Amino acid sequence: MIDVAFTGAQVRPSDTAVVIDVLRATSTIGLALASGYERVLVAGGLEQAQALRGPGRVLAGEHLCERPEGFDLGNSPEETLSPRGPELVLATTNGAPAILAAGEAATEVYAASLLNFDAMVATLSALDGDILLVCAGTDGSATIEDTYLAGRLSAALGGQRTDAAQIAEAVAAAYPRPLDALDASIGAANLRDVGLDADITFCAQESILGVIPQLSTTIDDVAVIEAVSEQPRAETAESSNSSST
Ligand code: MLT
Repeated sequence: MIDVAFTGAQVRPSDTAVVIDVLRATSTIGLALASGYERVLVAGGLEQAQALRGPGRVLAGEHLCERPEGFDLGNSPEETLSPRGPELVLATTNGAPAILAAGEAATEVYAASLLNFDAMVATLSALDGDILLVCAGTDGSATIEDTYLAGRLSAALGGQRTDAAQIAEAVAAAYPRPLDALDASIGAANLRDVGLDADITFCAQESILGVIPQLSTTIDDVAVIEAVSEQPRAETAESSNSSST
């Protein structure tokens, strides 16, 4: 059965949870791993991320969409293209809590974005059991871009679906292109407000990564995400200069 949680607060037990924060946490996680970070440590808050600072660790995240004071990077995916160390510590408002909640409720947890769409479909298609597509949403509310991707994944996976999954599919069908869905969302409006319009276009790219980010363990409320498999075909924005994907 394919089901959808429209916000992180709606996470419920499932065999597999697929966390979706198109703008921008799961896009950043996917690109970071594809770019060469060995793992992403997802922290529950900014202070927790600061406490994780250490050799080889790069702090990334956002507060009101912008790089928090004292952090090395913001939450723009492309900031991870040139890894500055083996581990990226990431703290974000909606995506990080959704990942941590999914880690408590599901046996397996993945992080999906449009960037790794085809790879996620191939991986999820091979799984048995129920799949819960978890939209991070924005500030506790459902959002168009996450619901759009949940609908796209649900439609691509087929099989039995809940009403929630069918609602997500109807949302996805309403937008001719991924960018149309992203552009219409509150997440995009928030990014435009701080001049991060380029992130919207970047995150709307479909299937440019073959990386599959999966939660490997949770230690002291920090979710450790690693690339567990690489589907053939992986092109990043810098693929012409790098073979890291
Ligand atoms: C989040 O997790 O809240 C988002 O990724 C926010 C953002 O940085 O756009």
